Amino acid sequence: MNKRLNIGILISGRGSNLQAIIDGIERDVIAARVTVVISNEPDAYGLTRARTHGIPTRVVDHRSYRGREAFEDQLIKTLKEFQAELVVLAGFMRVLTPHFLQAFPLRVVNIHPALLPAFPGLDVQRKAADYGVRFSGCTVHFVDEGVDAGPIIAQAVVPVYPTDTGETLAERILKMEHQVYPRVIHWIATGKVRVEGRRVFVDGAKMDEHLSPIEPSF
Ligand code: GAR
Repeated sequence: MNKRLNIGILISGRGSNLQAIIDGIERDVIAARVTVVISNEPDAYGLTRARTHGIPTRVVDHRSYRGREAFEDQLIKTLKEFQAELVVLAGFMRVLTPHFLQAFPLRVVNIHPALLPAFPGLDVQRKAADYGVRFSGCTVHFVDEGVDAGPIIAQAVVPVYPTDTGETLAERILKMEHQVYPRVIHWIATGKVRVEGRRVFVDGAKMDEHLSPIEPSF
């Protein structure tokens, strides 16, 4: 691919979504390049994954800063240093304030392991299983000033069984995350995504791709 979007990925842990994105780029199905991976947790396994693929990494530990703004200033500085045009949150467990978002307006995306607006927040796979819902899934959305609240770009649905635990459901959802997130990043990278208020339009995407993309088609 000729033109590639520069993306900066923020993580806090395992980095399996990061891996799915790296794999998509290496398979040449995402028109992007990861210019930097930043973790707020020094021991995040995702940092090792990035290094294995020759991607620059940085640790910006929130505990080393006096407040959120100072932490976010360092994130912004690092992302700009690596010329990130899109910020991809992949299991990044800190809430970003308007201070950060103003630096990247409508240029921050997140993946959440539930069908928003149901089950925002933390430990949501267990909450969905305990609630007894029949379906859950994942949501990729633009990040705005609310928590897990911005315009929805794509959702994928999985069944929930009465025997599910948080772990079994999380595993089922994660498989969908790995399919949906790379696809959405490719859509954004190729200029297909348009936002009107809360509604997000994806040029050329089949209607069912907005719902539950089982077979990834880029
Ligand atoms: C994923 O399930 C992601 O949806 C979730 O954390 C996990 C990270 O896994 N994100 C959130 O809960 C954000 N609030 P990974 O590090 O293996 O990609």
